[in-house]
Amino acid sequence: MKIAMIGTGYVGLVTGTCFADSGNDVICVDIDEAKIQGLREGKIPIYEPGLSDLVLRSSEEGLLTFTTDLAAAVQACRIVYLAVGTPPAADGSADLTALKTVVDSMAPHLTDDAIVVTKSTVPVGTNEYIFRRLKELLGREVDVASNPEFLKEGAAIEDFMKPDRVVVGVRRPEVGEVLHELYRPFLRTDKPFLTMSPQSAELTKYVANALLSTKISFINEMANLCEKMGGDINDVRRGIGHDQRIGFAFLFPGVGYGGSCFPKDVRALASMARDHGLNPRIMDAVDEVNSEQKKVLKDKIDQHYGGNLTGKRIAVWGLAFKPRTDDIREAPALTLLDYLLEQGATPQVHDPEASENIRAIYGDKLIYCESAMDALNGADALAINTEWKNYHNPNFSEMRTRMNGHVIFDGRNLYEPDQMVEQGFTYHSIGRTVGAAESEPLSA
Ligand code: UDX
Repeated sequence: MKIAMIGTGYVGLVTGTCFADSGNDVICVDIDEAKIQGLREGKIPIYEPGLSDLVLRSSEEGLLTFTTDLAAAVQACRIVYLAVGTPPAADGSADLTALKTVVDSMAPHLTDDAIVVTKSTVPVGTNEYIFRRLKELLGREVDVASNPEFLKEGAAIEDFMKPDRVVVGVRRPEVGEVLHELYRPFLRTDKPFLTMSPQSAELTKYVANALLSTKISFINEMANLCEKMGGDINDVRRGIGHDQRIGFAFLFPGVGYGGSCFPKDVRALASMARDHGLNPRIMDAVDEVNSEQKKVLKDKIDQHYGGNLTGKRIAVWGLAFKPRTDDIREAPALTLLDYLLEQGATPQVHDPEASENIRAIYGDKLIYCESAMDALNGADALAINTEWKNYHNPNFSEMRTRMNGHVIFDGRNLYEPDQMVEQGFTYHSIGRTVGAAESEPLSA
């Protein structure tokens, strides 16, 4: 099939590349000349494992091309995917300016049998908006479908190639059939292709992310409770996870969720609920708990040093909002770095991929280190934000030698509290107490 992919951001580039890899003829379109030129030369603007190789392979085979010519791409393709950015507006709702501009400018170039598919995360009702707008502009009905994406950064290629499910929202079953054909190569393991109304498809994306965010805020709140009551959240997690109704996934406590999806989607869903006269209490609480949780390392450091960090060197491991990405959007590390700088500390930071993005914000206020171990040189303490693989099994004796003070604030529970004490560290983690903690007896 011939596919135009409008928008070569994270979602557009991954989706377009994967469709090309399965034999489709994909034209990726963007208004950013420099980005398109870079992509033609094989320069990938984001870090995503496996993406670069796939782009090169499909480009060499002639199945993946890049252009700024929207009209020509739309004229040449039956399927037109919209994957432009929908950043949050001030009130938390999604800003649809880019999407609306694209719809208007591509309209005159759509083929008679075109299918316009929305891949961007858009508010419920956007599909209807595009459908009506195209009818108004062209005087005829154009097929408009919704196809939300569930890609995780850092695992996007694998998620696309082996989805748990594909969801499409359509008005006519025939359109669902065409899209099913497109996805068939990715559904070999009998994973479902689910067709529903455009509204339901649009909602599915938000509801999925809202529930996943809820799990994280829930477990973080429970972790904080465990800590106060002398429990260990890891044991509690195991204790509940074996109940098949609960399960283990997405119940790891930490420094709060970040990234381009969860924070934005939780707020957007709450904003939509308010627009419809509802009070989204759960979504508001999930967001609030998460904002508080992002301060968890700051609070622990504050408590440990009694609020005085002047002259202290604090090593920070992990700046990206999660491993295997260079993305720092809404990253909990930002909350920590702001605090450390405010308090007069010197952060010595390390991240395998995200340092340059952090440098764009903090410039030379931070010390950027080539290796995790280098970040520890002369440090009074270490704070861990992101669970990159290479932080899991460090050489503790080398750490002790390099560090000035032997204190670790672990926001991802990478180590065992008892072992850390044996290793000679003062160890703070999330929802766990060191040693066989005594709980407060019940008062009579
Ligand atoms: C998410 C969804 O998983 C994906 O389906 C959607 O399309 C986009 O949003 P992503 O933001 O890439 O993907 O990251 P994900 O791996 O889901 O993690 C999100 C955040 O939750 C990270 O900050 C991560 O550290 C945090 N998290 C995740 C936890 O704190 N605990 C967990 O148990 C799981």
